[in-house]
Amino acid sequence: MCGIVGVVGKSARDIILNGLTNLEYRGYDSAGIYLNDQNGHEYLTKAVGRISNLKEKLTPDEQGLVGIGHTRWATHGKPTVDNAHPHFDETKRFYLVHNGVIENYAELKKKYLQGVKFHSDTDTEAVVQLVGKIARDKNLDGFSAFKEALKLVKGSYAFLLIDNTEPDHVFIAKNKSPMMLGIGDGFNIIASDAISVLDQTKTFVDLQDGDVGDITKDSYTIETVDGKKVDREPHVLNIDPNAASKGAYEFYMLKEIDEQPGVMRHISQDYLDENNGTKVDPKIVDAVAQSDRIYILAAGTSYHAGLVGKQLFEKYSDVPVEVGLASEFGYHFPKLSKKPFFIFLSQSGETADSRVVLKQVNERHLPSLTMTNVEGSTLSREATYTMLLEAGPEIAVASTKAYTAQIAVQAVLAKAVGEKKGVQEAKDFNLKHQLALAAEGMQQLVDGKEHIDDLAKKYLADTRNAFYIGRGIDYAVALEGALKLKEVSYIQTEGFAAAELKHGTIALIEKDTPVIALINDPATADLTRGNIREVEARGANVMVFAGKKFAQEGDDVVLPDIDYCLSPLLTIIPAQLLAYYASKNKGLDVDKPRNLAKSVTVE
Ligand code: M6R
Repeated sequence: MCGIVGVVGKSARDIILNGLTNLEYRGYDSAGIYLNDQNGHEYLTKAVGRISNLKEKLTPDEQGLVGIGHTRWATHGKPTVDNAHPHFDETKRFYLVHNGVIENYAELKKKYLQGVKFHSDTDTEAVVQLVGKIARDKNLDGFSAFKEALKLVKGSYAFLLIDNTEPDHVFIAKNKSPMMLGIGDGFNIIASDAISVLDQTKTFVDLQDGDVGDITKDSYTIETVDGKKVDREPHVLNIDPNAASKGAYEFYMLKEIDEQPGVMRHISQDYLDENNGTKVDPKIVDAVAQSDRIYILAAGTSYHAGLVGKQLFEKYSDVPVEVGLASEFGYHFPKLSKKPFFIFLSQSGETADSRVVLKQVNERHLPSLTMTNVEGSTLSREATYTMLLEAGPEIAVASTKAYTAQIAVQAVLAKAVGEKKGVQEAKDFNLKHQLALAAEGMQQLVDGKEHIDDLAKKYLADTRNAFYIGRGIDYAVALEGALKLKEVSYIQTEGFAAAELKHGTIALIEKDTPVIALINDPATADLTRGNIREVEARGANVMVFAGKKFAQEGDDVVLPDIDYCLSPLLTIIPAQLLAYYASKNKGLDVDKPRNLAKSVTVE
């Protein structure tokens, strides 16, 4: 969380403000910018709230040829102007922005910074004060003082530091938090991700953990904290900048929901051949086929996609699967099977909770695969193998197309592994056809979005809580439907195994409580109808999303036919739309719900 942008060698203000606006998905509770015109004038401006508030505060004369900016997701200290970055040292020589968490900031303050006057409650300020103190005490230049300080700092960070005695440099350091160096013609840019500054350059250097750098307008030096030079070659990134634009849409979330049929076709083209054969790196297929158990680790929406993946791998690859919340698994490893294989699902590829698990997997020399939407992301670099989701940039904080892409890519791998092992179900699984059905069905469902808007207006406009219920695979979708609704509309929603309600939670059902029932499971369709009657009898307003085979008159959404294990690809579409409209109709910022950030890079 938190987004950072630094520029050296070009009018920095607009580049930083544009970059920060593109990075708002990483946090948006306060923002700040430091500019230096390299001619003795420097400016520091901070504002609570969005980048738009910061822009309003800036005066026209605040310009610079070097600068750093930050959009914050608060970890240490409330979202206030004082706690907003950039932070500075006591003598106002050094200015620092930071994405990450400094674990030993209290110790640093106690041990090295007694008597130093602090202006904020942040962990970050301890670092910039430490750089300043070291520079003063040891009479060091800025870069040397920075490296000395880094030797004492523990935690995750992407740092951008400016020393106003050398304002033609930006000093950088990376550990566990993402940071890219963009190479321009006569200028250089450093940012949390490449997409945020794609309008300035397409040439990037991937920075790695442990990198420390000195960036000027026409040079960059990367080294370790001990001064050992490191080679980092630039590469050209082939991303269409329009893929990350909103186009005619009011919100990214709806654009991304609408893009899902295209994502299914894309995955089909990339991962399946004309004869329904899979195109997956044989090394990955062999590694999974040799395993005796798959462990899927993820967080949030990706975890919910993993629950669907379990069904796919168990049916089509004939291998047992355990799905874990990364944040729990990381500190409570279960007894592993003899030949485990780990799959990390992560849209961003940066989720700190998942990285904790992967680190331990690597320490045990166990094989792993990251399925991610972001090429070159940290989880992708650190795992043995990567499969890309090919969903295109997902900007809205609420994940939609990455979820369906995760299910589809897991289906591809499940089939590939099953075929390798000679599993009959995998041979018979016409995934090419099923993904075509998914694309068609999704299109039909997004085309009917007005109807979902009507449902949102009718049932969700005034409610404070709601339930999703389902059994079998629908339970997994109920969890995701509930997460979507609560994160963007702030309606407290629980995803529930339909039959579990009567074991206690049904006490919460009262007149007009909205209950969304999902029905795709042949084994329990009739039983779920019974559970619906139970909540209706207590006054609930029930919406039913049912597969065509199970639909009855009066159901609110009839879902087109598809393989049972892939039914979440369709069931989730009206659920995503319901969340979208519930939020939009309340006048909320659908793409940037309160308290959230797109990539969760703190534990
Ligand atoms: O980038 P990841 O898929 O690893 O992120 C995991 C969760 O933080 C993410 O899915 C989150 O739950 C979304 N905001 C849900 O819409």
